[in-house]
Amino acid sequence: IRKIAINTGGGDAPGLNAVLRSVALSAIERGIEVWGIKHGYRGLLEDEPGGLVRLDRDAVRGIMHLGGTILGTANRGDPFHYPTEEGGKLVPKDRSGELIERFKQKGFDALVAVGGDGSMRIANELLERGLPLVIGVPKTIDNDVYGTELTFGFDTAVSIATEAIDRLHSTTEAHERVMVVELMGRHAGWISLRAGIAGGADAILIPEVPFSYEPIVEKILQRESRGRRFSIVVAAEGAVQKDGDVTVREAGDVFRRVAVLGGVAERVAKELGARTGKETRSMVLGHLQRGGGPTTFDRLLALRFGAGAVRFLDQGCESGMVALRCHKIELIPLSETAGRTKTVPLDCDTVTTAREMGISFGDEPA
Ligand code: F6P
Repeated sequence: IRKIAINTGGGDAPGLNAVLRSVALSAIERGIEVWGIKHGYRGLLEDEPGGLVRLDRDAVRGIMHLGGTILGTANRGDPFHYPTEEGGKLVPKDRSGELIERFKQKGFDALVAVGGDGSMRIANELLERGLPLVIGVPKTIDNDVYGTELTFGFDTAVSIATEAIDRLHSTTEAHERVMVVELMGRHAGWISLRAGIAGGADAILIPEVPFSYEPIVEKILQRESRGRRFSIVVAAEGAVQKDGDVTVREAGDVFRRVAVLGGVAERVAKELGARTGKETRSMVLGHLQRGGGPTTFDRLLALRFGAGAVRFLDQGCESGMVALRCHKIELIPLSETAGRTKTVPLDCDTVTTAREMGISFGDEPA
């Protein structure tokens, strides 16, 4: 291996710059050249000036603690459905062949693709189409990449969300309201589960557990009768109402909301207000969960993933994704993760802990 390319794709996650730094430094130490592709695959597919940037020591100096990504990212940069101008309109085109050609022309031996489940699926397809060597590095604040125990960005998002819930307590109690706070997580409830428990929520609604209103109403009224005249409900953006929103089981283990009704927090707050007679408010924490620098934990995980990717390449590995398993960085086949989502196992210790503490998931029997 003499020359590698690296890109960051999909929604950003705190820790991306730490990965770029560790990949660059550990490659340079081995005499390997590293180039960054700007904005997902755009820097390689378009002939924009600066589309490819050399990641030398100077380029990755002082970036480890910064949020975002110095390479920029792309949400709609799938090379198999690449937005391409045709007759004054943008139409999706398969430009994977061209991408692979350009990759080889530039003399790259391997690609380090930093991204979430979508990026891992794309990396796997590129591999099948002839890209020589790909190492995936899993990132997402949602922690839903299959095959790794954790992704970087998740710890940061949970910390921010927990602090937000802490802050909501005082205002919610002062006004004796029910507050519904919506956190990120379309397909998995990891952030809501962890931040909800740590922040002392009274109910946690996650995509993995379709909820009914009755148990949540009961929980709120129970608290009232104990003199606790306020309640906090945490709802993942992908939370679904049992027999309400349409859900479908996909890929065996994933709930996806097919009828996207939008504004989970707003809907839940309205309904709880009507059913309890209490004043309710809702808020969406949104992109604050992704903004800013990583926690120390995420920074370290990102550094370990990046260094691991280069180490495996240097050892002559086959393509794969670096993953955290039992405290170690391992390489797993891309095909094992591509197209799958890691949802919250309902028998995990964290769910059990929440249930034992009396937190409602909206599925308790009457
Ligand atoms: O996948 C990460 C994530 O933050 C999700 O939790 C959220 O649903 C989505 O990205 C938001 O994406 P966008 O930045 O495109 O609004």
